[in-house]
Amino acid sequence: MRISSITGSLCVIVVALFTGSLAAPPKPCASKVKEAVAPPRGWIKHGTPAPDHTIVLRIGLPQPDFHILEKHLYEVSDPYHHRYGAHLSKEEVETLVAPHQNSIDAVDEWLASHGIKESELVRSPAKDWVTLKVPVSLAEKMLDTTYQVWEHTNGDHIVRTTSYSLPENLHEHIDVIQPTTMFGQFKGSKSTIVWADENDVSAVQSSEPFVDPVSGVVVDPSCNTTITITCLQQLYNAIGFIPSAPGNSVGITGYLEEFANIQDLQSFYADQRPDALNSSFTFLSVKGGLNSQNLSDAGVEAGLDVQFAFGLSHPIPATFYSTAGRPPFKPDIGTPTDTNEPYTDWLDFILSQEKPPLSISTSYGDDEQTVPKSFALRACAGFAQLGARGVSLMFASGDGGVGDNDPNPATQQCFTNDGRNATRFIPGFPASCPFVTAVGGTTRVPEVAVSRFFSGGGFSDFFARPAYQEQAVSSYLAALPKGTYKGLFNPNGRAFPDVAAQSDRFRIFLSGRPILIGGTSASSPAFAGIVALLNDVRLSKGLPPLGFLNPLIYSKAASGFNDITIGHNSGCGTTGFNATQGWDPVTGLGTPNFGKLKELILPFPG
Ligand SMILES: *[C@@H]1O[C@H](CO)[C@@H](O)[C@H](O)[C@H]1NC(C)=O
Ligand SMILES: *[C@@H]1O[C@H](CO)[C@@H](O)[C@H](O)[C@H]1NC(C)=O
Ligand SMILES: *[C@@H]1O[C@H](CO)[C@@H](O)[C@H](O)[C@H]1NC(C)=O
Ligand SMILES: *[C@@H]1O[C@H](CO)[C@@H](O)[C@H](O)[C@H]1NC(C)=O
Ligand SMILES: *[C@@H]1O[C@H](CO)[C@@H](O)[C@H](O)[C@H]1NC(C)=O
Repeated sequence: MRISSITGSLCVIVVALFTGSLAAPPKPCASKVKEAVAPPRGWIKHGTPAPDHTIVLRIGLPQPDFHILEKHLYEVSDPYHHRYGAHLSKEEVETLVAPHQNSIDAVDEWLASHGIKESELVRSPAKDWVTLKVPVSLAEKMLDTTYQVWEHTNGDHIVRTTSYSLPENLHEHIDVIQPTTMFGQFKGSKSTIVWADENDVSAVQSSEPFVDPVSGVVVDPSCNTTITITCLQQLYNAIGFIPSAPGNSVGITGYLEEFANIQDLQSFYADQRPDALNSSFTFLSVKGGLNSQNLSDAGVEAGLDVQFAFGLSHPIPATFYSTAGRPPFKPDIGTPTDTNEPYTDWLDFILSQEKPPLSISTSYGDDEQTVPKSFALRACAGFAQLGARGVSLMFASGDGGVGDNDPNPATQQCFTNDGRNATRFIPGFPASCPFVTAVGGTTRVPEVAVSRFFSGGGFSDFFARPAYQEQAVSSYLAALPKGTYKGLFNPNGRAFPDVAAQSDRFRIFLSGRPILIGGTSASSPAFAGIVALLNDVRLSKGLPPLGFLNPLIYSKAASGFNDITIGHNSGCGTTGFNATQGWDPVTGLGTPNFGKLKELILPFPG
């Protein structure tokens, strides 16, 4: 018999059978609701999961020193701070996010009380996450809840619950347990109108080359209708720059069985970047993520991302990550697991790597409100850890303007998920996390905000406005007519996007054929490619990489962006926000001017 009592708790968890050798048997801890959500819109109960259906439970232990990590992150990312560029090591970051030993012990004892052995636990390097695979019947006992199979109106299925409980003494030792209340539908932030209309005549193609008034660079008139690597090099003033510094790297994340096809990449290089022919990327599998090279399995999102990010940054060493998690989950055919937000699996993996790529783009996301806040905070804290280690993270801002990520205004949904069903703008996550750089979309020459779909943008309901964007965002808000969209957005929230890039009519190769596609799925890898070039500039001068970009781009490097002042981001039955002079929640600070930025990122520009 072993009886454990946890520091500070009034009750005890009984481990194994209590045999009654003490005068009074200890009282087991009362269970108390840890998290409860309103039944989510769009989902209905579909049935009961099979008792042997397995769930990979992910338990987040509190990170009591996270505020110290955050302070380090802001210091090493602030170009005016003497510690700028002094990024933290993997070990330093792990120490700063480690849970208190009391929390580890409390959770271990609770798990042991349910017969779960240490050998069944997988711990993150910092021990701040514990994952374990359990049958749903055991998860229900542990969490004092009942799981259901839920069906979405679009046919998706998940196994979730609307509430779960934990012994009272454990509440302070656990931040979050998922999958429980998470009803997100993680999806590619690409336009669902993937194939652009080849006969679209709305774009004028003059025979005169366009001369950019700021950079003086000549842009081919064909870039008005088809975006190629050369177009981006011209538009972003990076023609002729060949990176050469050792130690540089760039990465693309892939999910949902989106496979990056190497033959397509070669066709793309032959078409747009002949000097990159025969070069490829390193493939890394996360949690068993596959890598089909069958041309008919080529993923449009993965193809777009690797072709443009790696095409722009060649010959910087490139990595593509394929994270497992197969959509959609089908409850009736015994699919063994359904997943958490898979970018947290990717985070586990990348945080355990000694040298993650220095510039990484992700073109996937969720509606912020479908991710439980407790989970979003932890995922966002994971992105902060990468920033502190010197990694720049780009995320697509979404394709539904101020609405959800649905680019089709007819089907877009702009109602809260909290049981009130109130009309509200729907920000996207992870774009709304203050520790990432959110990339919106432009189109045409000269550039305007994209309008075939709409550049995702707005204000987080979870995250407060960070100091680095206080001035830019409050100026924007001050210029809004009083009462604009009152109640539809949180004016004190983290505002996004931070920047933008071309996002429509990108010419890529898919399954052997050239096609045109668009979305902020295109702008995010394009921007990441430019960031990789900027890292080359710093590395070649012996300087550390850029790391977390936002404190730099909102201050010292702000003048290195082409301000986009035309267009808006419709959604939710409104015209959304307007692109304006200076920062705006449509195109952020604007699109990159590499020629200018490569001076501004040096210690003494000019
Ligand atoms: C691009 O098309 C737009 C119309 O969509 C037109 O106003 C603009 O002049 C065109 N730019 C060039 C360089 O042809
Ligand atoms: C790529 O490989 C082919 C076949 O080996 C060769 O002919 C070609 O010159 C190579 N191209 C480049 C850019 O290295
Ligand atoms: C590639 O996939 C197609 C369609 O699924 C299949 O018919 C074909 O046999 C596969 N080719 C190879 C080499 O596996
Ligand atoms: C939410 O409100 C909208 C608009 O009033 C309505 O169309 C929709 O049916 C409501 N949904 C729920 C679940 O109440
Ligand atoms: C956007 O600009 C239009 C035209 O100037 C104006 O009518 C509208 O009120 C503006 N909307 C916002 C949200 O600023």
